[in-house]
Amino acid sequence: MFDGIEYRGYGQEKVEELAKYAQVPVWNGLTNEYHPTQMLADLLTIREHLGSLEGRKLVYMGDARYNMGNSLMVTCSKMGMHFVAAAPKKYFPNEKLIEECREFCKISGGTIDFNEDAFDAAKDADVIYTDVWVSMGEPDEVWEERIRDLTPYKVTMDIMNVAKKDAIFLHCLPAFHDLKTEIGKEMGEKFGLSEMEVTDEVFEKYSDVVFDEAENRMHTIKAVMAATLG
Ligand code: NVA
Repeated sequence: MFDGIEYRGYGQEKVEELAKYAQVPVWNGLTNEYHPTQMLADLLTIREHLGSLEGRKLVYMGDARYNMGNSLMVTCSKMGMHFVAAAPKKYFPNEKLIEECREFCKISGGTIDFNEDAFDAAKDADVIYTDVWVSMGEPDEVWEERIRDLTPYKVTMDIMNVAKKDAIFLHCLPAFHDLKTEIGKEMGEKFGLSEMEVTDEVFEKYSDVVFDEAENRMHTIKAVMAATLG
């Protein structure tokens, strides 16, 4: 019936099971644990805007133990980039994955680091990256705790100003930088906030880069399909 299946859902084990039994290519369009196709778009965007990947410092602000934090750590480790997660300790990726990434770094020359101080982490960054504080499928009850824990890691102009002069800001979207999304509006009103993981000022300043990143999702997924369809 199908020439290929893209799974975008929850547990990583589900996409792996699907890939094991499907006799067609199965693409991971996002799980709770990983978001590999987003990585291709992100790398392409960094290369387009900064000209290179190797040696670049990427700082991820927020819940680094979820799909985006995990996948960015894996990707930077494989590409010889310097990955820093800026978050409270309990939001750092799991030890097993950190160990695997340290092995990738030995080959690529990349590094991985973890820092609870957002400003110290952002120093001299080439890329500042963030994602929503509550992901798809997580219960609404976690919002309050996430807002409390992750507000110090909101990407503001003060954060961008300690990064390199030509640093870029990336976001996998959707972004809650104003109240114009359904969830942004609902949670913003509930908690008395007009912006969450990134300020509207930062988002608008770097929106050309963020929308290039979104456009690159289309080009890179087409490349993946072309490379894997028989
Ligand atoms: N962490 C987010 C990524 C969205 C592209 C989520 O899983 O909802």
